[in-house]
Amino acid sequence: MGAVILGTGSCLPERILSNHDLEKLVDTSDEWIRSRTGISERRISGEGEEAYRLATTAARNAMEMAGVEPSEIDLIIVATMSSHMTMPSCACFVQNELGADNAFAYDLNAACSGFLYSLDTASKHVLCDQEKTVLVIGAETLSSRINWKDRNTCILFGDGAGAVVMRYADTIRGVLASQLFSDGALWKLLHMHAAPSCNPAIDPPGNPGSHILMEGRDVFKYAVKAMESAVLQLLEKENINLDDIDLVIPHQANIRILNKLLSRLGVKQEKVFINVQKYGNTSAASIPIALDEANREGRLGEGDLLLICSFGGGFTWGAGLLRW
Ligand code: COA
Repeated sequence: MGAVILGTGSCLPERILSNHDLEKLVDTSDEWIRSRTGISERRISGEGEEAYRLATTAARNAMEMAGVEPSEIDLIIVATMSSHMTMPSCACFVQNELGADNAFAYDLNAACSGFLYSLDTASKHVLCDQEKTVLVIGAETLSSRINWKDRNTCILFGDGAGAVVMRYADTIRGVLASQLFSDGALWKLLHMHAAPSCNPAIDPPGNPGSHILMEGRDVFKYAVKAMESAVLQLLEKENINLDDIDLVIPHQANIRILNKLLSRLGVKQEKVFINVQKYGNTSAASIPIALDEANREGRLGEGDLLLICSFGGGFTWGAGLLRW
């Protein structure tokens, strides 16, 4: 019995912001950015490209591949931390745009691990209620949450959305297992303020605004160790050897994190899907965008074992295993 992915889709904003464009905004260089992160360019959402709109297009593409109509969707989960509104959720906007009148909808915030967490949640919905068809989406417009004067962070992130349609099937395919972790004690190393959460004064002074703040070196160190440990625990629990994995799709944080992780695990480069050079770190959207690209490029055959892993603010991290 399996919670099977029937279709994948993605949507990227039109505007490309290259490293050379960034050289005009902050004291940086294309060479520095590429050598430290592997990123050459990223997409930036403009008018009409709010997270819910990118999410809706990604969802439509996934539904078209799956052959699923909006009326057949029972649940929509959107992993995001950059919706254009705090209330209603991004997922409710997606439901309305799609006309998915039979669905209930909610957002899930686990920062860059949001899609992995959402996939785990969705698969449990599907296994508990085998009639359910679920849309799982990762959608971010983090360009709206960046301090464009901070060269430590503005070079890293980009916008986009990816989606999958999931449904029960009596098969060995589907989401096999996941290992998820959080450590809230480390929140300060990677965080983003929202509006003030209490009201000691009507207009509190010193409100830092909604910008990503990060201790890059610490995040780097934790990310590699955490993802390595999650992957190893998951494989041990499922009694699966790394050699049996056909494709790894990691969260596209940056190339140095990924290279270090993969060399520690001993995974061969040709078994890994990487597109961080084109899109930067799209947070919760990075895995489903990469999954869609890998799927459409024919990198996934029926029965293949797929490993995904991620790390993000919280800290949140984990790994997941799917049979395609
Ligand atoms: N362009 C040029 N120089 C820059 C720069 C930029 N965009 N950003 C920082 N620098 C400078 C620093 O000011 C510092 O200068 P100094 O030595 O004169 O003080 C120098 O480069 C080294 O900075 P440091 O932060 O130590 O660089 P680093 O090698 O750790 O690389 C990151 C920085 C952000 C690329 C790296 O720490 C990283 O990848 N961290 C993980 C980030 C991440 O993936 N976050 C999301 C996880 S989901």
